[in-house]
Amino acid sequence: MSYPRTRLRRLRRNDTLRRMVRETALSRDDLVLPLFVVEGSGVREPIASMPGVHRFSVDTVVREAKRVVAAGVPAVILFGIPERKDARGSGADDPGGIVQRAVEAVKSAEPDLCVITDVCLCEYTDHGHCGIIENGDVRNDPSVERLAATALSHARAGADIVAPSDMMDGRVGAIRSALDGGSLEDVAILAYSAKFASAYYGPFRDAAESAPAFGDRRSYQMDPPNRREALREMRADLEEGADVLMVKPALPYLDLVAEARREFEVPIAAYHVSGEYAMIVAAAERGWIDGDRAMDEALVSIKRAGADWILTYAALDVAARLAP
Ligand code: PBG
Ligand code: ZN
Repeated sequence: MSYPRTRLRRLRRNDTLRRMVRETALSRDDLVLPLFVVEGSGVREPIASMPGVHRFSVDTVVREAKRVVAAGVPAVILFGIPERKDARGSGADDPGGIVQRAVEAVKSAEPDLCVITDVCLCEYTDHGHCGIIENGDVRNDPSVERLAATALSHARAGADIVAPSDMMDGRVGAIRSALDGGSLEDVAILAYSAKFASAYYGPFRDAAESAPAFGDRRSYQMDPPNRREALREMRADLEEGADVLMVKPALPYLDLVAEARREFEVPIAAYHVSGEYAMIVAAAERGWIDGDRAMDEALVSIKRAGADWILTYAALDVAARLAP
């Protein structure tokens, strides 16, 4: 009878040993909390498809930002939901727009909190697409012009980082030029580089009222089976001046997170998106899984794959469970 000499279970015997050989640890410093901002005051409206997530008005988002700082989470990403929408998404680059006012309010209350803004048109257009429509098509170059103006207005309002999520070609370069031309050369770009046309954005589109009125986003967001193309997207954004590259969604695309980590030297972000969050919360509500453990497992897996930043709706819950 020959028994194994190598026994990997030896170092798994108790919690102390497991702590000593643990290879990856989630940290509060990895987390970015997405926040939705609406018009009005005193608003803290629950989002049905994302239990635990709310829409805030400018005054209450400041209060939430204080909780974020108190929890030790370094950053938020703001999404604006305007009252009025039109074909060109005029609200997106309005200096008095919802995101611009939220950025000003949050930065003046919490100057050390890193404020990222999502730069896109879909929350501001009446058709719900991420760009400008001509003859039923989303036109690239006119959209890029609007996106650059939007990023510039967010930066002028005080955003530390702008994050284009539209997937138009050339938008990172156009945004870099607009920022530099406006003496905002210190504002960084977090590029949603490998953003896939995913079913997992469903709850977000409810939250942001940004579902496309016709068609879908497959002519600009990436086709899920494509890996090489994702690397080309990331390389292009890097060459155009992106400071941080993002993969989105996270868990179904962990191969690309790992590959981006190997291929590029810049920080890599991954977005654990609304549908990924909602699946865990919904199953936990039914008593089918332990929601806290499933969430922690999802997020540490994203970190293990190589992500430096994790955008997650669970940032505050997770931070509360982590050692300081
Ligand atoms: C806007 C945007 C979306 C998300 C982030 N920015 C939705 C979309 O592209 O349809 C999704 C975030 C999430 O699902 O949590 N372009
Ligand atoms: Zn969009």
